Amino acid sequence: MSEVERAKGYIHGSTDPREVARLEKQAGFAWRFVGPKFIAHKGERVLDLATGVGAMAEQILMHHPGVRLFGADVRMSQLRSAKANHPGVTLVNADGARLPFKDAVFDRIHCSWLLEHVPNPVAILRECRRVTRPGGTVHFVEVDNATFRLVPPDPEIEAVMDALNRAQTASGGDPFVGQKLGALFREAGFEQVSLSPSALHGRWDDPAFYAECITEFAEIFESIDEAVDPEMAQRAHAAAQKLRARLGMRGSEFHYSGVLAVATR
Ligand SMILES: C[S@@+](CC[C@H](N)C(=O)[O-])C[C@H]1O[C@@H](n2cnc3c(N)ncnc32)[C@H](O)[C@@H]1O
Repeated sequence: MSEVERAKGYIHGSTDPREVARLEKQAGFAWRFVGPKFIAHKGERVLDLATGVGAMAEQILMHHPGVRLFGADVRMSQLRSAKANHPGVTLVNADGARLPFKDAVFDRIHCSWLLEHVPNPVAILRECRRVTRPGGTVHFVEVDNATFRLVPPDPEIEAVMDALNRAQTASGGDPFVGQKLGALFREAGFEQVSLSPSALHGRWDDPAFYAECITEFAEIFESIDEAVDPEMAQRAHAAAQKLRARLGMRGSEFHYSGVLAVATR
């Protein structure tokens, strides 16, 4: 199996019940930081692009119960899981770079953790601009893995993070895409874009929040699929254990910052 095939399989691909439960929990955690900037009103048409198993779509419905929510994803396996768990979402099988919608039909688009996986982010953002009505908003949540930092540092954990970043890059994705969102949105034709970091800073002396940050990232490492790459899975599981062991470590800290882009059409 090539490095590219391995990367595609082991980075956020599975729909087994444990992985789905992890994604639902992750969505609840992430919404606390990015949800307050997602504005939608009753009756509006909202698209959750790259809805996956529908985890963030569920957050949208919980916090904005009056919207008409559509979820689009390129993978049928993800959509089958979304359909079973989130019947309130109208699901569409579609590539974000060629959306099967007329111009200006959505009031809002939400999208989380898509651009890190695609080779053509501008094509996707252009389509989002096309299907959003003038004055509507487009809300993207993306990663910037360069911000991952532990105090004190741990070279083994950082090496696993680097290996995952390399694999994602080899598969045509970009684990640092968050840094480029301003330029990408402008290239796609958006003139008004507001960027904000969604910063996680966990510290040993705030054990409850520290545990949440550490656990989210440990669970990401533990989700690396053994069937796809046993060696990487083993290294990632060991890194997860080391991360969890830091919880009681006096003076230790965890830093990570994703990026939120909100653009007006
Ligand atoms: C990391 S998951 C994020 C899922 C969901 N947004 C969430 O927050 O849980 C990335 C999703 O993007 C989808 N995807 C990848 N390329 C896509 C494309 N070109 N168009 C639409 N969806 C795509 C994948 O199938 C996967 O469901």
